Amino acid sequence: MTKGKPISGFSKLSKRGKLKWIVENFFIDPERVMKELTSFWLPDQEKQKVLDRFSENTISNFHLPYGVAPNFVINGRTYCVPMVTEESSVVAAAAKSAKYWFSRGGFTAEVLSTKKIGQIHFIWPGDIKVIESRLDDLRDRMLSEAKSLTYNMERRGGGVGDFTLVDFSDQVEHTYQLRISFETADSMGANFINSVLESFAKTFVYSIRGNHQFGEDRHRIEVLMAILSNYSPSCLVRSSVSCGIEELGSFGNYSAHDLAKRFEKAINIARVDPYRATTHNKGIFNGIDAVVLATANDFRAVEANGHAYAARSGSYQSLTQCTVGDGKFTFWIELPLSVGTIGGLTKLHPLAKHSLELLGNPTAKELMQIIASMGLAQNFAAIKSLITTGIQQGHMQMHLVNILSHLQASEAEIKAALKHFANQTVSQAAVRDFLCILRSPVGDHSSSRG
Ligand code: MEV
Repeated sequence: MTKGKPISGFSKLSKRGKLKWIVENFFIDPERVMKELTSFWLPDQEKQKVLDRFSENTISNFHLPYGVAPNFVINGRTYCVPMVTEESSVVAAAAKSAKYWFSRGGFTAEVLSTKKIGQIHFIWPGDIKVIESRLDDLRDRMLSEAKSLTYNMERRGGGVGDFTLVDFSDQVEHTYQLRISFETADSMGANFINSVLESFAKTFVYSIRGNHQFGEDRHRIEVLMAILSNYSPSCLVRSSVSCGIEELGSFGNYSAHDLAKRFEKAINIARVDPYRATTHNKGIFNGIDAVVLATANDFRAVEANGHAYAARSGSYQSLTQCTVGDGKFTFWIELPLSVGTIGGLTKLHPLAKHSLELLGNPTAKELMQIIASMGLAQNFAAIKSLITTGIQQGHMQMHLVNILSHLQASEAEIKAALKHFANQTVSQAAVRDFLCILRSPVGDHSSSRG
C-alpha cells in the first residue's frame, strides 16, 4: 500500500525546485542536505548543463575517484590507463600487475571479431516456410528502405551483415526471430542498431501484409519487439601474458614453480566451480568496469555480455585461463566486449574525452585490447595475492584511509595510523581503538594533532 498521492509534474520543476521538494519531504534537516547537495554542483554552469542533460531529474553530481594505472605495455605500446572506481586497491592492483608484466614482455592482445547482433522478434501463426522462401526479397527491401540510416555507417566501414531466421515456435508459440549481424566501426552502435532494427521491423510487416503471396495469414504477422542483443560472442578480444616459469620470481616462501602451479590450480577451480568463478570474474570486472566507466562506455552492457559468455558452455566459468608447461607460464583472457570510442557519451562527457586522449585516441578495437588487458591484469593481481599473502592484507591497507575518514581522523591522525598499521592487521575495531588511544589525554600525542 502506498500513502498519499503521487507527485505529478516533478520532472518539470527546476533543479533547485526538485531538490527543495526532496529535502523537505525526505530529510529531517533540509537546510543541511540542501547545502550539501548543492555544494557538489559544478561552479561552471555550462559544464553542469552538459552533465545534467545526460540523465533526468538530476539534483546533483555523484563523484567517483578518477585514477590511472601507468606502465601498461600492450602490443609493445605503453599506456597509462584511466580508471573510475570506488573500490580501494583496484587501481593499485592494476598498476602493480602492469609494472610486473612491463619487464616480462607486457600484454599481447588481439581482436578476434567485431560482429554485433540485433533481433526482430515476430509472431507468425502461418507456415514459416512461406517467409523463409522469400527472406532474400524481404531483406533487400528492408535494406533499401533503411538506406538513409545505414549510409553514414557504411562510409565508416560498418553496416548490416547476415540475416538468419530463428525458430522458437516449439518453445514460445508462433514465435520467430530475424537475427541480424552488424558492424559498427568505432562506435558501440546500440543506437544505430536499434534505429535500423525498428526501420526493418516496419518494412518487414508491411511487405508481408501487402503481398498476397504470403497467404491469408499475412494479416496476422506481428512484430513483438526489435532490439539489439547485448550478447555479442562474435565481438571477441583476447589478451595474454607469458614468461618462463623462473621469470615469475619467487614470492615469500613460494618458489617461482610453486607460484605457477598454485596459480594454475586457482584458475582451474574457477573453471569448474561457479561459486568461485563468480568472485573470480567479479574481480576481472573490477578492472574492466573502471576503464569502461572512465571512457563513458556502457558498463551494464559490458558486464551482461561478459557474464553470458562465461556461461556459454552451460556452466558459469572463469573468463581467464592458464597453462603451466614446458617451462612456460601462460595466462590469458577471452571475452566479448562491445565498446566505442565515438558516439554515445564518449566525446560528450568532458572527462571521458580526456580518458580517450590519455589513451592516444584509440580505435574501438584498440580500446577492446586495453580493456581486456586490464581485466587480465586485475585478475593476475587478485590471484597472486589470494594464493600467497591472502587478499585482506593489501585490501585492508588500502581501505584503512576509508575507515579513518569514516572516523573523521585528522591529517596527523591519518599519518600516525598509516605508520602504525604498516605491519599490523587492519580492522574497523583496531583502527577505532588506535584513534581512541591517540585521542585520549593519556595517549601518545607525539604524532597526533597540532
Ligand atoms: C574483490 O573485489 C575481488 C576479488 O574477490 C577477486 C577474486 O577473488 O578473484 C579479490
